[in-house]
Amino acid sequence: MDKKVIYSAMQPSGVPSLGNYLGALKNWKNLQDEFNCIFAMANMHAITVRQDPSELKKNTRNLLALFLAIGIDPKEHIVYVQSDVRAHAEMSWILNCYTYMGELQRMTQFKDKSAKHEDNINAGLFTYPVLMAADILLYQADLVPVGEDQRQHLEITRDIAERFNNIYGDVFTIPEGYIPKVGARIMGLQNPERKMSKSESDNPNNVIYILDDLNNIANKIKRAVTDSDTEVRYGEDKPGISNLLNIYGAVTGKSIEEAEADFKGANYGEFKKCVADAVVEELRPIQERFKEISADKEYLNTVMAEGAERASKIADKTLAKARKKVGFAVR
Ligand code: TYM
Repeated sequence: MDKKVIYSAMQPSGVPSLGNYLGALKNWKNLQDEFNCIFAMANMHAITVRQDPSELKKNTRNLLALFLAIGIDPKEHIVYVQSDVRAHAEMSWILNCYTYMGELQRMTQFKDKSAKHEDNINAGLFTYPVLMAADILLYQADLVPVGEDQRQHLEITRDIAERFNNIYGDVFTIPEGYIPKVGARIMGLQNPERKMSKSESDNPNNVIYILDDLNNIANKIKRAVTDSDTEVRYGEDKPGISNLLNIYGAVTGKSIEEAEADFKGANYGEFKKCVADAVVEELRPIQERFKEISADKEYLNTVMAEGAERASKIADKTLAKARKKVGFAVR
């Protein structure tokens, strides 16, 4: 029997945060045995916010090296750069014509991002979820492993796909989200009321970047805000401690209850040290492999070229189907 298809992507807009890693990357790695996986570096999404071109190029290569360093196998699976596959832009245009302004206006990420980038509220930022729908639908994905913040974008993807299928018959597979129980929403260390985000640069102690110096990572965790209570317990009234329990659970593969049980009677200092050790030991081998892989320029070039070719083959097939349905010439 054919394996189900997994599709996911990440923007190459800087070094991924611990949130990106625990909400997405770590799970991608574990899905490889069971599924056919396709992972992209979403550089077309990244330019919805102004980017320095040489930095974007560098970040894209580094993100590829990081995908490989966490253990994504580019022979068994497909890893590619979004802009290398022209079908994305073309499919995105077609799907734009099957998406309503009202639907896009409801997207919370659009509202957040336009508040953050008031001077550059471009049309790409607005239609961003349509490009994401094109990504997913081009590969007929069954499952999309992402963090909690992408849930709304998956819902609109399903709505667009269902709308298109209702008009034209079964063109697209309707995808399901694959959102982990623990780690799907990692919060800032200094501001645990808001999600940890790689674009949050105002307080460096708020965000862990997975290529940060390991001592620095441990210190950021030890400095994380907690509360005046002493109990290591999960709860809405304890956002700082809950976030650290979530991080610990996601790293070790434990449930929140198991994580809480590990720290029964422990004080905050002991707890934070254990969380810091767990994160550091998780990231150490990844950082080491990243160093080796990112130095091998030839290898990265080959992976990118092969990925683009293999991804294009699949994407072009779906695009041809959609073109035919809407009345364009079949090429
Ligand atoms: P991006 O690049 O913002 O984030 C990449 C992945 O990291 C997850 N994530 C988090 N998980 C837990 N806690 C956090 N604090 C946290 N912050 C981010 C995100 O949910 C995501 O899974 N639009 C997407 C990229 C994309 C995509 C796609 C994803 C483009 N096309 C198709 C899936 C399918 C984005 O901007 O992710």
